[in-house]
Amino acid sequence: MWSIGEKKVRIPLIQGGMGVGISLGNLAGAVAAEGGVGMISTAQIGFREKDFDQNPREANLRAIGQEMKRARAISPDGIIGYNIMAALRDYEDHVKAAVAAGADLIISGAGLPTELPRLIQGSRTKIAPIVSTEKSAKVILKYWDRNDHKTADLVVIEGPEAGGHLGFDREALEFYAQADYMEEIRRILEVVRSYERKFEKKIPVVAAGGIYDREDVERVMKSGVDGVQVASRFVTTEECDADIRYKEAYIQASREDIILVKSPVGMPGRAILNPFMKRVMLGERIPHTPCHGCLAKCSPAEIPYCITDALIAAARGRIEEALIFCGAKAYQAERIETVREAVESLFPKGQ
Ligand SMILES: Cc1cc2nc3c(=O)[nH]c(=O)nc-3n(C[C@H](O)[C@H](O)[C@H](O)COP(=O)(O)O)c2cc1C
Repeated sequence: MWSIGEKKVRIPLIQGGMGVGISLGNLAGAVAAEGGVGMISTAQIGFREKDFDQNPREANLRAIGQEMKRARAISPDGIIGYNIMAALRDYEDHVKAAVAAGADLIISGAGLPTELPRLIQGSRTKIAPIVSTEKSAKVILKYWDRNDHKTADLVVIEGPEAGGHLGFDREALEFYAQADYMEEIRRILEVVRSYERKFEKKIPVVAAGGIYDREDVERVMKSGVDGVQVASRFVTTEECDADIRYKEAYIQASREDIILVKSPVGMPGRAILNPFMKRVMLGERIPHTPCHGCLAKCSPAEIPYCITDALIAAARGRIEEALIFCGAKAYQAERIETVREAVESLFPKGQ
């Protein structure tokens, strides 16, 4: 079994970070308490703060600390970290606040987290990039090596069946069958193993995307990865921080309702087809609230809708007006379960 710093991972399971407001302190703490790794997403994490509309930056930074406190109250000694998207405008501040809050781990994707090693320097926080292709693994590990003489403490490989924003263009997504992706996982593992040799340290690799049950875990572990990252499965848990109507949208969705969408971020994403998404697909421009400054690159005057508005609507349960991100297997949700039930079905005791 592997470790994150001094802490041993009891179950090789990371709960994937889910913004906005889907994986906060409650879910992350519950997963950590079961022996997995709990991840808090910092994407517009302060949306429930009173001053969020006026001061989104301060509200978010404050909430980063508060959510760790909530998670630690549930799991004082478990492994708890933050998912911080590299595409965020306040990326550096979020990383610093996460370190100050005592993050065991920071996982960063949605862009290349080139500055991450510099930002956590001198702390005990461990770092992991999210990669989807051999090419992105090579680019980020080489960059960290050359610039900072550092390598990753963990690598997350996010495949084409994941939820949220996806690290592939549309053509690649259509091209990848799961079988082909296993080959890509093996190639990424080769890249990571070469850095393990160079830095003489173990770099655990976890696979993410479309891992929903025990069978999925067993299939993907055969590729040689050290663990899995699972997100959608945890949405329909009692402990998940999302509104109950969001959880019910997963339970009601059928396979055909889960589609690829183009997000204003410029990346494809996966979501449930709902009235909001239909309006967007028909070319409607949805009016939005004043800019919350979430992304480094966004032109509020040109976007078809505001991603922050659409994701906050989702977290609050106004699901008709929301972007309901989900993984390719979210339709498999049948009921609300506890985190313990989900963890035990993915990693049955004694196996
Ligand atoms: C609702 C939702 C929100 C997500 N938000 C983020 C996010 O803020 N940052 C990120 O890096 N990944 C995000 N993801 C991706 C997950 O962390 C995870 O890697 C992926 O969904 C795994 O696939 P699965 O959902 O099939 O288990 C999100 C996924 C979902 C379903």
